[in-house]
Amino acid sequence: MKVDWNKLGFDYVKTNVNIRYEYKGGEWSEMQVTEDEYIPMHISTTCLHYGLECFEGLKAFKGADGKVRIFRMDENAKRMQSSARKLCLPIPTQSMFEKACYECVQRNIDFVPPYGSGASLYLRPLLIGTKVGLGVKSSPEAMFIVFCSPVGAYFKDGMKPIKVIIDRMQDRAAPRGTGDIKAGGNYASSILSGEKAHVMGYSNVMYLDAVEHKYIEECGAANFFGIKDNTYVTPKSPSILPSITNKSLRQLAQHLGMKVEERPISVEELGEFSEAGACGTAAVISPIESVYDIDTEKIVRYGEEVGPVSLKLYNMLQDIQYGRAEDLFGWTKVVERA
Ligand code: PLP
Ligand code: COI
Repeated sequence: MKVDWNKLGFDYVKTNVNIRYEYKGGEWSEMQVTEDEYIPMHISTTCLHYGLECFEGLKAFKGADGKVRIFRMDENAKRMQSSARKLCLPIPTQSMFEKACYECVQRNIDFVPPYGSGASLYLRPLLIGTKVGLGVKSSPEAMFIVFCSPVGAYFKDGMKPIKVIIDRMQDRAAPRGTGDIKAGGNYASSILSGEKAHVMGYSNVMYLDAVEHKYIEECGAANFFGIKDNTYVTPKSPSILPSITNKSLRQLAQHLGMKVEERPISVEELGEFSEAGACGTAAVISPIESVYDIDTEKIVRYGEEVGPVSLKLYNMLQDIQYGRAEDLFGWTKVVERA
């Protein structure tokens, strides 16, 4: 095994094994461990046609003390259960989800990047409807997989604020749709505007609500937050994915004595924040340098330097993830070597 830890991006790297469970005849199989990176699949499998699929994303970190910690996998388990419920897919149990993540890290422990590289091991739990059929209906058969890949530091040269664009050409999710779960279809409907933004030199699209196109929803594949008057403000809407990073940052902000508000944030309010950022597992915190509204041609600038509150929250979160600070909230699970 040879991985150049300093050259890792956010890409698939082959590891030792992945973990699988199959659901058939009303029950989950025993856990299977396989080196096989492929899934044999009939051409008429539901997940290929009707988007009966959801996934998760979480990370394991090699700490300053040499221990490997998985971050908040209980929360990812709960979110996958709510995704499965909404897609009428068989629901993985909390314990099988956590066991699969733990096994996946333990059996691929040499792929957890070393402390100090800024890299981590990204876990990708995946749930697919495997029933063969042609009609649009739920899938009583499923496969649950957890695989992993070492991924690089999001910011190779330290945190670098990003430019984002508001573009109303494409809605990510509707209020009564699937925006609040991690369904693949949500990402499908963000590709076109995302590609356009990249061509124009922006890192992310800031998605607005699909009804009035007035309120902030998400920032690419991450939640949005703004800081003003010692308050951490983040959007509230039925079509936003409840980010576990955002939830953690809210807890940390409260711990710092800040106020926390979850409420609709209009595009007009963007100019009132002293700092703004995107947050998620992959990005941790991406501070926002500027937001350009393509329709009104207005631009809000937060600056090229990382704001002090964003930096403080980022450090607090990473200190817990890398075992440099006490895990005050019980967020991490240490993985022992087998
Ligand atoms: N919003 C979307 C659309 C995402 O894809 C993600 C990534 O997981 C997030 C928010 C952030 O969620 P989390 O912090 O749980 O990774
Ligand atoms: C994550 O942050 O974990 C994500 O899932 C974002 C993206 C890579 C889909």
